[in-house]
Amino acid sequence: MKLIKSIALVSLTASLLIAQGQGKKKDEALQSVVNTGKQSSKLLLKTLGSNMKKNMKAGGPMKALDFCSQEAYNLTEKVNKELPKGVTVKRISMKYRNPANKPEADEAAVLEALAKLKNANVILPKQVVQKVSADTYKYYKPLVINKKVCLKCHGDIQNVALKRAIEERYPMDKATHYKMGDLRGAVVVTIKK
Ligand code: HEC
Repeated sequence: MKLIKSIALVSLTASLLIAQGQGKKKDEALQSVVNTGKQSSKLLLKTLGSNMKKNMKAGGPMKALDFCSQEAYNLTEKVNKELPKGVTVKRISMKYRNPANKPEADEAAVLEALAKLKNANVILPKQVVQKVSADTYKYYKPLVINKKVCLKCHGDIQNVALKRAIEERYPMDKATHYKMGDLRGAVVVTIKK
């Protein structure tokens, strides 16, 4: 009886240890997804943000619009080339300006969930991780309209010339009438292990 008990105890301990090992491995895998996601989204936002600022300073919103419409997508591609193999980054929005930034179905589900949370006055998490398959994760950084300057091009646009230029370039534009604090979309980092 005693022997059986101790065997049972040993095997229980062993399986607990294995489970713990697997849990630890899972934690580590998740942590590395989060780290990669953080770094990649930061790199994209920094690259776009600093260039936008430069153009805004140099020539106001019309010049900044030229930058956004001509270079934002190319710069995103450039950032992607700098990321490790299996990692890509992009911006998405339910109310997108560039149709290339339309979310995929699994991404739309996350944006809709974030919008629901926001409507329930939940302070949004800094990041969300979605497991899309055995070896692929998507890291989301929610983007909120957090600077007044965003409203110049995404709010109720006051500047008539700017408004016209945006309509000309994006006849299907959905990305206007935002207010401060609105959920604008997300940066998505897809990480294939
Ligand atoms: C000078 C005008 C301008 C300003 C200011 C501006 N944007 Fe944009 N934004 C654009 C344009 C143009 C696009 C489409 C870019 C493209 O073609 O990829 C865009 C695209 C985006 C997208 C990608 C999704 C989509 O709709 O296609 C996000 C997210 C976004 N902007 C967020 C912001 C935020 C947040 C701010 C403030 C920090 C901001 N924008 C300020 C012009 C602007």
